[in-house]
Amino acid sequence: MTSLRDASPAVIRLSDYRAPAWRVSHVELTFDLGIDSTEVTARLQLQHAADRAEPLRLDGEGLELLAIHLDGEALPESAWRYADSVLEVDGARDGSVLETRVRVQPAANTALEGLYLSGPRERGFLLTQCEAEGFRHITFFPDRPDVLASYTVTLRADRARFPVLLAGGNPDGAGELDNGRHWARFVDPHPKPSYLFALVAGRLEKIERAYVTASGRPVQLVIWAEADAIGRCEYAMDALQRSMRWDEQNYGREYDLDVFHVVATHDFNMGAMENKGLNIFNAKYLLADADSSTDDEYRAVEAVVAHEYFHNWSGNRVTCRDWFQLSLKEGLTVFREQQFSADMNSAPLKRIEDVALLRRAQFPEDAGPLAHPVRPAQYSEINNFYTATVYEKGSELVRMVAGHLGHEGFRRGMDLYFSRHDGHAATLEDFLGALGEANGTDLLPFLSWYAQAGTPRLTASGHYDAAQRTYTLTLAQHTPATPNQPHKQPLPIPVKLALFDDHGQMLPLHVADGDGGAAGATERVLVMEKSEQRFVFQHVDTVPVPSLLRGFSAPVILECDYAPADLARLLRHDPDGFNRWEAGQQLAARAFDNLRDGTATEALDAWCDALAALFSDSAIDAALLADLLTPPGEIELSERERLVNPQHVHALRQQLQESLALRIGQAALIQRYEALNAQTTLALDAISQGQRRLKRRVLELLARIDPWTAHTLATLQYDNAPSMTDRLAALSVLVRGNAPQAHAALLHFRERYADNPLAMDKWFAVQTQLPGELVLDRVQMLEADATFTLKNPNRVNALFGSWARSNPDGFHRADGSGYRLLVERLRELDRLNPQVSARLATALNGWQRLEPHRRTAAKAAIASLAEQNGLSRNLTEIVQSMLHS
Ligand code: TRP
Ligand code: ZN
Repeated sequence: MTSLRDASPAVIRLSDYRAPAWRVSHVELTFDLGIDSTEVTARLQLQHAADRAEPLRLDGEGLELLAIHLDGEALPESAWRYADSVLEVDGARDGSVLETRVRVQPAANTALEGLYLSGPRERGFLLTQCEAEGFRHITFFPDRPDVLASYTVTLRADRARFPVLLAGGNPDGAGELDNGRHWARFVDPHPKPSYLFALVAGRLEKIERAYVTASGRPVQLVIWAEADAIGRCEYAMDALQRSMRWDEQNYGREYDLDVFHVVATHDFNMGAMENKGLNIFNAKYLLADADSSTDDEYRAVEAVVAHEYFHNWSGNRVTCRDWFQLSLKEGLTVFREQQFSADMNSAPLKRIEDVALLRRAQFPEDAGPLAHPVRPAQYSEINNFYTATVYEKGSELVRMVAGHLGHEGFRRGMDLYFSRHDGHAATLEDFLGALGEANGTDLLPFLSWYAQAGTPRLTASGHYDAAQRTYTLTLAQHTPATPNQPHKQPLPIPVKLALFDDHGQMLPLHVADGDGGAAGATERVLVMEKSEQRFVFQHVDTVPVPSLLRGFSAPVILECDYAPADLARLLRHDPDGFNRWEAGQQLAARAFDNLRDGTATEALDAWCDALAALFSDSAIDAALLADLLTPPGEIELSERERLVNPQHVHALRQQLQESLALRIGQAALIQRYEALNAQTTLALDAISQGQRRLKRRVLELLARIDPWTAHTLATLQYDNAPSMTDRLAALSVLVRGNAPQAHAALLHFRERYADNPLAMDKWFAVQTQLPGELVLDRVQMLEADATFTLKNPNRVNALFGSWARSNPDGFHRADGSGYRLLVERLRELDRLNPQVSARLATALNGWQRLEPHRRTAAKAAIASLAEQNGLSRNLTEIVQSMLHS
């Protein structure tokens, strides 16, 4: 019956889109909730498109149909058919009411899609996850985002076992029933697609806050969590209020129900979900306190709370016509969250973090067999397309458009987009159309960014003509072929740039034939539209150092012929923190190339010298300095290799850090560490966070050249740490250095946090960062630990995800044993949770570029998966794409 296990899954194509023949204007749902068995009654008010002859077809997966009525009459078996996850019903007309009653089994649902149980059956609670196609696991429905209905939901359950009953929308009554049961009703007046439906039932505690919107609407904010976690929800509540205010102030968007519920669960496939009026969060992105959360995690909580809240407009009020438009809500919402986080924290640090993520997660995706456009043209399993490309690259595309329109123009465009499409399901054309129309400009050329996969390479070369006093910049773009897209077209690439003189001053820019740009401005955006273009700057009195792609103005890979000394100058003098960091990253990458090729050490010297100078500059922000002192990660560096040997990349990166540490000097590192350590606090303000970040980096650098001292300091730091940030940083240094003290610290950590699953996830994850040769045994020991389970996605990701993605040196063993272990577990995991297995499998994405030994071993492991019978549609699609494109 279920199509999940099909051998050759059907392909869904954007070009096949058709508006629905049947819609639902209103739905009434009644749930009789139980852990093992829940009965769902659905009354659908149907609408039939006059010009369409198709019979009524509803989606439904794994449902046990108990009763079916059409317009009040029980339907004979001959009047309906349920096969291949579709229910076909005869005799329905426009205006008909269809009522179905089905049974589902929450406790048996390990896929965490549809209605499921979170936690142990004695204590756990029930909840739903419907995006993208989970609603069809709950009831029969046209489960597609362009069917918008209003919802009335009644929940009934045993009061002692399920004291709290929640669904999206406003509360509309509650009361007692016989036999210790009770009921609660919720009405959501805003038409929404089925993927935004949610319910929660069980024993939960709450914190509440009253909020008043800009126009004076009172809203009750409620965060729900299990008893042991409710004390860690205050920070999320604060973040929620900040998000709501920010969206009012920056986009003029208010919340639109009387209540806003947020619920934390430990059993969740992704980060969080924006269900209308009832957001549900992976506890990892909601709970925070100093004893168990790091600074990075606090910021992640703030970001995810904001992201889900912002979806109320970008996603819920204006939703997606079909899943190909996913980036319409996700790219836009990531962008809005990035703006918000930049406002709440440090803008340059936020940009650094986001660009680093793009390079670590999206660039490799775009360069491998799973590459797909931000708007894919086809899929077989939509859950496989919640990717870094759709989210992070999607956000970069919005950022380019926003930059192009300017602050006010973008706001004008967003106002039109929200008001024109409010209550409707929209497309990316609608989005660009509204933004363009509000600004009297045509943005449709940007659509090519949405349709074309692969990361463009931008090459730049400059030529200075002293006699003419001109500087000529030649830019060329090229996008390498990706699976199914052999030929690429040039894209509009905004290149923000500045020119520096040799004192580190920015020069006024005069572009020949330039289309304006404020006279004498020192920063300009040139838009490249062709494959190759030349820009001439006039009145340039000295050989300039160009700073290109400032703020990362386009998601491209820049290749340019700067001299190392030029990059070092930008690293030292650029007034903009992000651009400074970027210059340092480019310089470090060059230094990496030099080390690899055994060529001149000019770049390495320039990088180390510039950073050593900054290290002793007391004016520089501590957090920024920490980031400057961090070379690109191993995944990013691997992208520079034609053939990747992860052990080799690891060793070279270690060498980079060792050179840097030596250049700064042991004494200076220890002194700085001591100074920072003396200032240790629990405070969460930006300065304190920055000091902790720098302290960690300094300790890591020290560990490269003086492990004994570093481990001694780390042990002290571990023992005295007032916060998780300091505690985990120390533990990480001990584990990565395979220090003798690591053992006792790990034992202590385990005891101390035995009752805190999120902290225990860190205990698993940190140990996957043991040095290369040692980690495989440790992973096997850890999976034998009583607290390990394949049923919990956070735990799976903490162990296998961290190992396979964040320790390439330890995962990619030459004998292939790492690949074989991962694939073995993927098989088991796939039977429990296809979304999580498919996602974890993408850790093997880069196999084709591995050096031949590892490549052969990786391919054999993936191929053995492909031969497995009964693989989920999710994992099948990933495995087949990895093997055949
Ligand atoms: N829409 C969610 C977000 O980005 C993510 C999401 C999609 C999700 N599918 C999911 C979350 C399945 C959990 C489970 O905000
Ligand atoms: Zn989202």
